[in-house]
Amino acid sequence: MKLYFFAALMGTLFLPSLIWAGETTSDQTYIPSEEIKKSQREFAADRFGIFIHWGIYSMFGQGEWYLNYGPRADEYAKAAKGFYPADFNADQWAKAIKDSGARYICFTSRHHDGFSMWHTRQSDYNIVDATPFKRDVIKELSDACRDNDLKLHLYYSHIDWTRPDYPRGRTGHTPDLDSLNYDWKGYRRFMDNQLTELLTNYGPIRCIWFDGWWDHDEDKTPFDWELPSQYALVHKLQPGCLIGNNHHQNIFPGEDIQIFERDRPGENTAGYSTQDISLLPLETCNTMNGMWGYKIVDTNYKDTRTLIHYLVRTAGQGANLLLNIGPQPNGELPAVALDRLRDIGEWMRKYGETIYSTDGSLFKADWGTSTRLPGRTFIHILSPQSTEIFIPGYTSVKDAFRYGIPDEKVAYTVGQDGVTLHLPSIPEDIDYIVELSHN
Ligand code: GLC
Repeated sequence: MKLYFFAALMGTLFLPSLIWAGETTSDQTYIPSEEIKKSQREFAADRFGIFIHWGIYSMFGQGEWYLNYGPRADEYAKAAKGFYPADFNADQWAKAIKDSGARYICFTSRHHDGFSMWHTRQSDYNIVDATPFKRDVIKELSDACRDNDLKLHLYYSHIDWTRPDYPRGRTGHTPDLDSLNYDWKGYRRFMDNQLTELLTNYGPIRCIWFDGWWDHDEDKTPFDWELPSQYALVHKLQPGCLIGNNHHQNIFPGEDIQIFERDRPGENTAGYSTQDISLLPLETCNTMNGMWGYKIVDTNYKDTRTLIHYLVRTAGQGANLLLNIGPQPNGELPAVALDRLRDIGEWMRKYGETIYSTDGSLFKADWGTSTRLPGRTFIHILSPQSTEIFIPGYTSVKDAFRYGIPDEKVAYTVGQDGVTLHLPSIPEDIDYIVELSHN
């Protein structure tokens, strides 16, 4: 793990992630298969996915961490008996998500509260056996993804706050479970059996998105999760299934994508992201409002402009955006989330070409970013302070025009270090895109 790729984020030059491709990995002991390389290419081309955090926690309306903050696990579990999301319709979710321009869904199969959203045979604590709803949500979602041409990724928590065999870490201590002895081997077997079900019974799963490694303090009480054999199991069951792990560390051998939480690669406003940027395809996950799971008081949704800027800047950094929605306890996506999906979709239908399959920007700028296709660079002007837009590099520009309107030329002058665009006025568009053509 010594061969990490460090993007130099200082100054204006930003090293793009165009050289991520599966030919090399950050660790010599793991050689990705041809199937993985293909999935990596497809994943990176998609650029936009929707994260869904949904479980019995939605009933409490306090986010997916509610169990961590007080209830006994056995009291909390009683909610399952009342979970009847009458308005859940996987096809409606998939259609709304597809219309937004997103190309994949990452769904919480089992979060830290230990409740499984499919008909697992490894425990009764699941959507079919423990609720009056009795429907296998992952089955319905995998069918809907297939029918709507979306790829399915599954979030899978390493943490389980409700099982006595889980080797407890820093979180989720509840009085009814703390005194029990853990059984790592048993718990590991349980997880591997669950993963086997998920990767056997639900069609192609493009990614398993692990989370929770950080529950054990790597300095004080390091814990060996024995990941290599678990990763090998995933790859054996579905050779094209990517592995991502939200551990906030430098990537481990066997991982196929690198995840960043609440920050774009190279930024660290939320405090989780001190890891180096690897050569792997990158993904940043973030929320539309504040919390991942449904939280009743969390109505502070980012506006459409902010979300589109986030998506564009993430693509500019050569990464995918995994944008989260927390469905309501009745199974519907919140109305505001649906509005945002619709707005983003409208924008993506016009400008998606400047996002999908592009490479990241060769420079960093406050006013915006750029994305690239061969011979074409899309200058995304997002927050301009001036009509003069300096772009480092690009001294061999042949033409500059409004994206999609080749006749609407944009004046420019070429200097020694780059190109300056001279805009007629400071644009107020969500994203004023200038296309540069060059060699
Ligand atoms: C964190 C949280 C979790 C959430 C995840 C999404 O790890 O523990 O609740 O699912 O981030 O990135």
